[in-house]
Amino acid sequence: MSALTLKEQYYIQTYGCQMNVSDTEVIEAVLDQMNFAKAPTIEEASLILFNTCCVRENADLKVYGKLGELKEKKRKNRDLILGVVGCLSQKDGKKFLERFPYVDLVLGTYKQGRLPYLIQEIRSGKGPILELSNRKDREEEGLPVKRRSEIFTFVPISYGCDQFCTFCIVPFVRGKQRSRHPKSLMREIQNLAEDGFKEITLLGQNVNTYGFDLGPEYSFSELLALINSLDKIDRIRFITSHPKYFSLELVEKIASLDKVCEHFHLPLQSGDDEILKKMRRGYTYEDYKKLVCKIRTLIPSASITTDLIVGFPGETEEQFQKTLTAYREIQFDQAFMFAYSPREGTKAAKFEDQVPESVKKERLQLLIELSNQMVEKKNKEYVGSIQEVLVEGPSKKNINRLTGRTRTNRISVFDGNPKIIGTLQKVHIKNGYSWGLEGNVISSSIP
Ligand code: SAM
Ligand code: SF4
Ligand code: F3S
Repeated sequence: MSALTLKEQYYIQTYGCQMNVSDTEVIEAVLDQMNFAKAPTIEEASLILFNTCCVRENADLKVYGKLGELKEKKRKNRDLILGVVGCLSQKDGKKFLERFPYVDLVLGTYKQGRLPYLIQEIRSGKGPILELSNRKDREEEGLPVKRRSEIFTFVPISYGCDQFCTFCIVPFVRGKQRSRHPKSLMREIQNLAEDGFKEITLLGQNVNTYGFDLGPEYSFSELLALINSLDKIDRIRFITSHPKYFSLELVEKIASLDKVCEHFHLPLQSGDDEILKKMRRGYTYEDYKKLVCKIRTLIPSASITTDLIVGFPGETEEQFQKTLTAYREIQFDQAFMFAYSPREGTKAAKFEDQVPESVKKERLQLLIELSNQMVEKKNKEYVGSIQEVLVEGPSKKNINRLTGRTRTNRISVFDGNPKIIGTLQKVHIKNGYSWGLEGNVISSSIP
């Protein structure tokens, strides 16, 4: 414990997607309520938690590696509580405790609310504790949240996923889709608006299937319209959308809502129809192109980003080339690219025609090279334009400058008076780089 504080301190390392980042915000708030303080470094913490991911094997390995490193620390300090929470804990369950017997807590997904009780149990000598989720749990709603920014924030609108793409472990560890009721969502967003938040990012594995599990009167487009009507909210974002369920009506609706930002993260996964079918994605490349065309027709400035997998079982060189072609044709603004990683329990892990690791690596490298060129080219297209930027704070690279994001989700760096943090500003873009944009504020209306 530090000399300056008598509080116990926690350290949380978060892996994985925005869902996990959002869960960590809940864990931090729960721990704050227990009178814990955030430790500046892992060394000072008496509670260390890993909020884990298992979407690919390298996500598992990172956590196993970290836990290995902590064995000695735990041996020297028996009071240290070491816990793993989230998707990998949910996947590995008991195996975790067999492999790392010095871990005190293995907590599945959606169990953040149990932490105060479980930490007490461990303190009273009842550890190690293993507690996994069962799908009926709805404990995740109504917990406090410690938000990372006072300007923009995440709001989960649904949990879990029903799609069972053949490569993906998420439905197994996060359960079936459960949409939050619009009343509870609107209450939360209204409160955020009152607290001065300007930008809300709606989170879900498939935001556009929001409401499917609530009834026919609930839909994502209705939810967007409700949020759009809130006075104090300036911007609405959402991730991730599933191309299969992105109806043309939804595009039209979004085009009509002024606060919904012009950014669509639409994971394509592969440019080849046979692979898409084996992945069980439910659309063809042609369907995807039609959707992008509709988006660009109605919302010409739209930025389209994607996820792509190379080396899915059976992927031939020709099929991989189709993914490269798709990248060039669609002209993605950005992509997250992955080598296929077999996940035990998923259908594709049992497919016999697995692609050798070396081939996956080569393909990933080629795709990344193409993507790097494209990102820079796309960013350079912004030079000379005027973009609306929500000013988020000092730039990390240069604290004398400010940073924010365009409506199309590009990071922008510019000079400006710190008083404009939290406001929308017009920025004249002077340069485009692989990391984002640089420019000057042209209408600094200091509040
Ligand atoms: N729900 C989102 C969707 O349907 O597109 C994505 C969720 S997943 C957490 C994020 C990305 O991880 C996926 O879009 C996919 O590209 C990638 N991914 C998932 N499972 C994978 C696997 N077994 N190997 C490689 N990449 C994988
Ligand atoms: Fe995974 Fe597919 Fe669900 Fe996305 S839609 S989380 S890729 S199963
Ligand atoms: Fe990973 Fe779980 Fe997200 S597996 S990608 S942290 S939903």
